[in-house]
Amino acid sequence: MSDSITSSLQEHRVFQPSPEFSRRSHVKSMDHYRSLWTRSIDDPESFWAEAARELHWFKTWDKVLDWNEPYAKWFVGAKTNLAYNCLDRQIDAGRGNSTAIIFEGEPYADGKPLEIRKLTYRQLRDEVCQFANALKSIGVKKGDRVTIYLPMTPEAVVTMLACARIGAAHSVIFGGFSSQAITDRVIDAQSHFIITADGGYRRGTTVALKKSVDEALKATDLVKKVIVLKRTGESVNMTPGRDVWWHDAIAGQSNDCPAEPMDAEDLLFVLYTSGSTGKPKGIQHTTAGYMVGTYLSTKYTFDIQPNDIYWCTADIGWITGHSYVVYGALNNGTAVFMYEGAPNYPDFSRFWDIIERHKITIFYTAPTAIRAFMKAGLDYVKKHNLSSLRLMGSVGEPINPEAWMWYHEHIGSSRCPIVDTWWQTETGMHMITPIPGATPTKPGTATLPFFGVDAAIVDRNGNELGPNEGGLLVIRKPWPAMLRGIFNDPDRYKKQYWSDVPGMYFTGDGARRDHDGYFWIMGRVDDVVNVSGHRLGTAELESALVAHPAVAESAVVGIPHEMKGQGLAAFVILKSGYSASDALKKELSDQIAREIGSFARPDQIRFAEGLPKTRSGKIMRRLLKEVAGGGGVKGDVTTLEDFNVIAKLSASDEG
Ligand code: PRX
Repeated sequence: MSDSITSSLQEHRVFQPSPEFSRRSHVKSMDHYRSLWTRSIDDPESFWAEAARELHWFKTWDKVLDWNEPYAKWFVGAKTNLAYNCLDRQIDAGRGNSTAIIFEGEPYADGKPLEIRKLTYRQLRDEVCQFANALKSIGVKKGDRVTIYLPMTPEAVVTMLACARIGAAHSVIFGGFSSQAITDRVIDAQSHFIITADGGYRRGTTVALKKSVDEALKATDLVKKVIVLKRTGESVNMTPGRDVWWHDAIAGQSNDCPAEPMDAEDLLFVLYTSGSTGKPKGIQHTTAGYMVGTYLSTKYTFDIQPNDIYWCTADIGWITGHSYVVYGALNNGTAVFMYEGAPNYPDFSRFWDIIERHKITIFYTAPTAIRAFMKAGLDYVKKHNLSSLRLMGSVGEPINPEAWMWYHEHIGSSRCPIVDTWWQTETGMHMITPIPGATPTKPGTATLPFFGVDAAIVDRNGNELGPNEGGLLVIRKPWPAMLRGIFNDPDRYKKQYWSDVPGMYFTGDGARRDHDGYFWIMGRVDDVVNVSGHRLGTAELESALVAHPAVAESAVVGIPHEMKGQGLAAFVILKSGYSASDALKKELSDQIAREIGSFARPDQIRFAEGLPKTRSGKIMRRLLKEVAGGGGVKGDVTTLEDFNVIAKLSASDEG
C-alpha cells in the first residue's frame, strides 16, 4: 500500500441544480445541506434519532450509539423489523394499493418484452408472508443463514424480505458466480438452506443456476433444503428429500406471517466481497442501523418524491442491490422498477426503451454501463423519449468526466442532476455523494460527505492533508449502516479496517479533496481491482490460478481498461514440464471462470520465468502493472532481486 498518490486530473466545469429541481426537493440549497451536515456531525445521536423516528419500532432505543472502537451498536435496546418497515408500514400509511415493484423479464419479441409484472405493496406483503411461512415449514429459524442464488426477479426481493421478516440472515450470491464460489460461501456462512431457480434469462440465453447449485453441493453436505423457483422451464435434477419447487413450497401457506421483533443489533445479512487476501469476506450488517442509514440516504440522495418510478440497475447480488433496489427503496414507499437481463438485449436501446415505456423518473447505474452505451453510439438513445427522467445516479467506480458529460447531455438532456455516489459493501449506505437539489456537481467527483459522515484524506498517521494532496480516504466517526464485522473472523475486521490508520476506518481507497472540499476518488490502494464495478481481490485470482496443475506461481494486477474501468493481467510462472501455449491460456482462463465466475476472466495472461520481487520477497506489483499496461518499466528498481526478470517479462507473450 502506498500513500503518496499523484493525480493529474483537472476539471473546472461546475453544474448547478436547476432552481426548479431545488425548489421541489428535500434539501433545497447548499446552506440547507451545510446546516444539516454540521448538526449531523456535532450531534449525530440526535440527528440519527430524528431520522429513526420516521420509521416503525416495536420498542424504541435506550441509547442511540454505543461506540467502543471499532465496535458500534446503534439504537441500543430497540426492537424493529426491516421487512415490516418496507411493507406493513407502507400499507398503514395508505400505500397498500400503490406499486411496490414493476418487473420486466429479459425475453423480447416483435418490439416488446414478453413479461411485465406489477406488485402493489399489499401484494408484495402477501407474497413475502407466504414465502416466509414456506421457509419456516422447511425448518428455517431466526438466526439461520439462508443462501440466495436467484435471477433478478421479484422472487429475489420476496426471498430477502421473507428472511428479514422471520429473522433469518440472508447471504445473497450474485448469479454470475461459479459453483466453487457457492460452495465456499455456503461453508463459510454455515448455511443449511439455498433458494435458487432452474435458470434465469441473460443476453438471449439462459443461465443454469440450479445446475451450479447441484455442482456446488457435491462438495458439502451442509445444505438440507433447496427451494427451486421455476423460471425458464429448463429441465433440472431434483434431489428427493432435499429439493422442493417454490410453487410446491408455498402451496397452502397462509399469507399472514407476523414480523419477528428483531433486536437492533441482530444480524440482517452477510454479503461476501473480495479483499486483499485470497478468502472472500462475509461482511455483516445488522438490523436497525442499516435500516436507518439506507432509509435516509435513499430519501435524500435520490430525493424520493411520491410519484417517482425508481430504477437502480444493480443486481441484488451486490450491496447496491441490497441497499438501493430492496431495503432503502421499499422503505421509502417508492415504486421500484426491476429488469432481469442484459443492457444490450436485444440491442443497446433496451434501457432507453424501458425508461420510455415505464416512465422512469430516477435512474441509477454504473460507469461501465455508461461507457458501453457511449461506444454503442447515440442512435440507440435518440430513438427514445427520456423526458420522464428527473435524476440520475452513478455507482461502483470513478466515473470519468467524458462518461459523466455524455450521461448528462444525452441521457439527462443537460437537465437532470447526476449523483455520483461513493460507498462500499462495508459502508452499507452512501458516504460521499451530491444531494441533488443542493450540491453543485463537477464531472468525476462524488463531491461531499453524506449526513453524519466524517470523511477525510489523511496520511498513514491520520494527519489530514491539504487541498489536492493525494492520500488515504478514511472515515473518522461511526455511522449507522457500517459493517459490524466479518462473519466467522472477528480479528480480520479489526486488522483490515481499523489498523492502517490509527483510530479511523480505512476504506482502501486513495483520494484527494479539491479547494471546494470535493472528494476525487483515485481508486484502490490495496490489492483489490474494480472490474466493471465488480470488486475482485488479486490474491483470490492468484490462488485460483495456482490451483491449476501447470502453475507454480502467479501474480494478478489491475490495468486500465477502456470499457471496464480496470481489466486484469495475470502473470503466470509454469511448473517444469509444462510449456506456454494458447491452449494453456484458455485452460487458465476457464479455471478462473470455474473457480470464481466468467466475469473475472483475465484480459491478458502472460507467461514469465520469474516474478520481480523485493528482497523481502514481496511481488513488485507496480512494475507488473507498468509491464502489462505496455508503458515499459519506469521508476525505482533498486530493491529488485533479479533485474533480468523484468526484461523477460516485457518481452513475454501477450494474451
Ligand atoms: O473503490 C471504490 C469503488 O468501489 C469500491 C467499493 O466496492 P464495492 O464494495 O463492491 O461496492 C460497490 C458499490 C457501492 C470503493 O472502495 N467505488 C464505489 N463507488 C464509487 C467508487 N469509486 C469512485 N466513485 C464512486 N462513486
